[in-house]
Amino acid sequence: MKVEALPVIQGEHNLLNYAETYGQFDWKDAEKVFSWSETGKVNMAYEAIDRHAEGARKNKIALYYQDGTRKEKYTFKEMKELSNKAGNVLKAYGDVDKGDRVFIFMPRSPELYFTVLGAIKLGAIVGPLFEAFMEGAVRDRLQDSGAKVLVTTPELLNRVPVDELPELKHIFVVGSNVEESGKIQDFNKKFEQSSKFLEVEWVDRNDGLILHYTSGSTGKPKGVLHVHNSMIQHYQTAKWVLDLKEGDVYWCTADPGWVTGTSYGIFGPWLTGTSNVIIGGRFSPESWYKMIEEYEVTVWYSAPTAFRMLMGAGDEIVKAFNLSSLRHIVSVGEPLNPEVIRWGMKVFNLRIHDTWWMTETGAQLICNYPCMEIKPGSMGKPIPGVQAAIVDDQGQELPPYRMGNLAIKKGWPSMMHTIWNNEQKYESYFMPGDWYVSGDSAYMDEEGYFWFQGRIDDVIMTSGERVGPFEVESKLVEHPAVAEAGVIGKPDPVRGEIIKAFIALRDGYEQSDELKEEIRQFVKQGLAAHAAPREIDFRDKLPKTRSGKIMRRVLKAWELDLPTGDLSTMED
Ligand code: WT7
Repeated sequence: MKVEALPVIQGEHNLLNYAETYGQFDWKDAEKVFSWSETGKVNMAYEAIDRHAEGARKNKIALYYQDGTRKEKYTFKEMKELSNKAGNVLKAYGDVDKGDRVFIFMPRSPELYFTVLGAIKLGAIVGPLFEAFMEGAVRDRLQDSGAKVLVTTPELLNRVPVDELPELKHIFVVGSNVEESGKIQDFNKKFEQSSKFLEVEWVDRNDGLILHYTSGSTGKPKGVLHVHNSMIQHYQTAKWVLDLKEGDVYWCTADPGWVTGTSYGIFGPWLTGTSNVIIGGRFSPESWYKMIEEYEVTVWYSAPTAFRMLMGAGDEIVKAFNLSSLRHIVSVGEPLNPEVIRWGMKVFNLRIHDTWWMTETGAQLICNYPCMEIKPGSMGKPIPGVQAAIVDDQGQELPPYRMGNLAIKKGWPSMMHTIWNNEQKYESYFMPGDWYVSGDSAYMDEEGYFWFQGRIDDVIMTSGERVGPFEVESKLVEHPAVAEAGVIGKPDPVRGEIIKAFIALRDGYEQSDELKEEIRQFVKQGLAAHAAPREIDFRDKLPKTRSGKIMRRVLKAWELDLPTGDLSTMED
């Protein structure tokens, strides 16, 4: 298919010549921007914050924060001191040492960022949890990681099953007049009394930094461990892909509960000394445009689902705001529809740059750059230093236009270090030839652009969030009325996919809309709102293999009126 390419953007970009840089670049040279590259002794929080707090950026704004009730800003110097204070609280009252898991379960707030940075300064491994998680999701993650410390808010505390978490020793509650008892301590009170001086713990480049739980098609969510070394790529991609420069005001809309909100909501922008806008609270098209106008945001990183919602809100409302500060827009999380790119050209007069990567990859891998032509619908080309290919199931590279596994040659700096407690799972990502296999299918055209085709497994991407069908099915069958459940992603114009569940009821239960709603609420309360099926169909029986595995691909084919394919393994 011939698509109309969008021409390169002329200007002083950090990456000026993609092809030339791709040919010459070596990660060994890139790490030399960091003084630790020789000693190997490093700390992400020092590089992201403290380093700037001493030099010319001392009084530069590091963080602009705003939500429904608060509006604050902090310089790099202040960020250094406030994260030191948070570190001191965790150390003195939480006994936090290098390698301990410190989990953070709270909505976005300045304290969240002070605490993440403070914990990293102690050499701890941070586990950020999305605020929408319900008790079951919180328990699974804290248990699997063996978290020692949790930082949360009074509102979220009742979703923490303290009695089921013997390894959790200290819970800090960020609120006013917190009642202290047992493991529970008042964060704010201790924060105020703490010193703004802290000795940073120097760690090895491959020591643990952050643990993001993410879903697969089978089993419970897995803990993807990233290490300090990944900063090399966070820094380099913040330069090349986000194109961040000294005067920029950058806004990443992702929550730190997801990898985009840490790699590019914390590390990338601050490693490059950029002013970072963080907005808490809920989404409305008006409030988003208002934030861009108010902070004069220049670089904006968001997701297709958000762009589609903005597109749905209409072009008139865009005109009500002055968005002339914007110079660069970037997207991640799901396929970026050519339609959305065309809309962006129309209303912002800017190209939206798609980027492809995953929780496991830690940072951007296949991207569109200002200096490169964009083919709408394509994810772009691998960043310099990264080799991507389409391989068959044996790891053999396929020629252009052949669809296959999107694979990356092992060895980029931000690659996950392991899957927590599950080395076997980690190994399962790799194929002969040192290929990391993404789980996505794609093809490459003759000019080296990659085109996303779909997930190979059954993982569902809904509003840019990854949901494992097995997790939802497991929760569904906990409901007394549910005998069996099969869950699929159903294409949706705004959300990318929605979660659809097929349910066989136990004897004695009657199908009804009330029951559907009750089951939906059950998943919402037990797992998370975004994991609850938006659609439920009752069936007498579900298609299963002879070994009893629910055949999601058959459910999907039925739902979408597609051929069901080979049914030889299906039970009678
Ligand atoms: C999966 C990873 C990395 C942050 C966001 C998601 C899908 C991601 C794109 C894109 C098409 C994309 C893939 C991938 N995905 N970016 N630009 N075009 N699909 O991270 O939750 O780990 O999900 O998201 O299917 O495998 P994640």
